[in-house]
Amino acid sequence: MIRLRPVTEADVPVLDRQHSSPEDGGELSWYGFRQPGSMARRLAANETITNDRGTLAVVDDDGNVVGDVSWIRSFNGPPPNGDCWNVGIWLVPEHRGKGYGTEAQRQVAAYLLDNTFLERIEAGTETGNIAEQKALEKAGFTREGVLRRACFRGGQWRDMVVFSKLRGEP
Ligand SMILES: CC(C)(COP(=O)(O)OP(=O)(O)OC[C@H]1O[C@@H](n2cnc3c(N)ncnc32)[C@H](O)[C@@H]1OP(=O)(O)O)[C@@H](O)C(=O)NCCC(=O)NCCS
Repeated sequence: MIRLRPVTEADVPVLDRQHSSPEDGGELSWYGFRQPGSMARRLAANETITNDRGTLAVVDDDGNVVGDVSWIRSFNGPPPNGDCWNVGIWLVPEHRGKGYGTEAQRQVAAYLLDNTFLERIEAGTETGNIAEQKALEKAGFTREGVLRRACFRGGQWRDMVVFSKLRGEP
């Protein structure tokens, strides 16, 4: 259905769409215009995957890039003892609602648990982002609770739902 692979230069125009307009970025994940070319610069610097963060392209059965998944080292206790990964996802609008978000988040969690020794994969989303909450639950993440007014978007502070998947969970 979909697979993950390293980002290439050819993917950049598609992946840059997430910062180009609210419609492309997603109604509930638009935080304003970003400096263009950040992915191109990371590629040029050979830094799409480092020890502390990474991005992989999401590719469909026809080889089309349909979005990306990313992760960043986060912590809930004194580093490095409290380290975990926090993951995020963006899909192009025309490929949403096909199950790709569920599968891509299942695959990125498996990838990180297979290739790094951290125990906990976290994901957060606004309480209003029902598609992402359903996708995370279907991908085997557990809803843990709500962080109140944790993220500013669209002129107001928003409550965020925290999900996690731990090593060994299906
Ligand atoms: C959020 C996102 C990753 C979900 O991925 P997706 O491929 O669209 O979702 P899926 O097809 O896997 O569907 C997951 C569930 O959400 C439901 N769903 C999909 N779009 C929905 C919507 N707009 N409203 C409510 N439910 C929705 C699906 O029906 C499915 O539930 P079901 O199995 O009970 O029917 C994707 O829509 C996206 O990239 N959105 C823009 C960026 C974004 O919001 N990223 C997350 C920021 S935290």
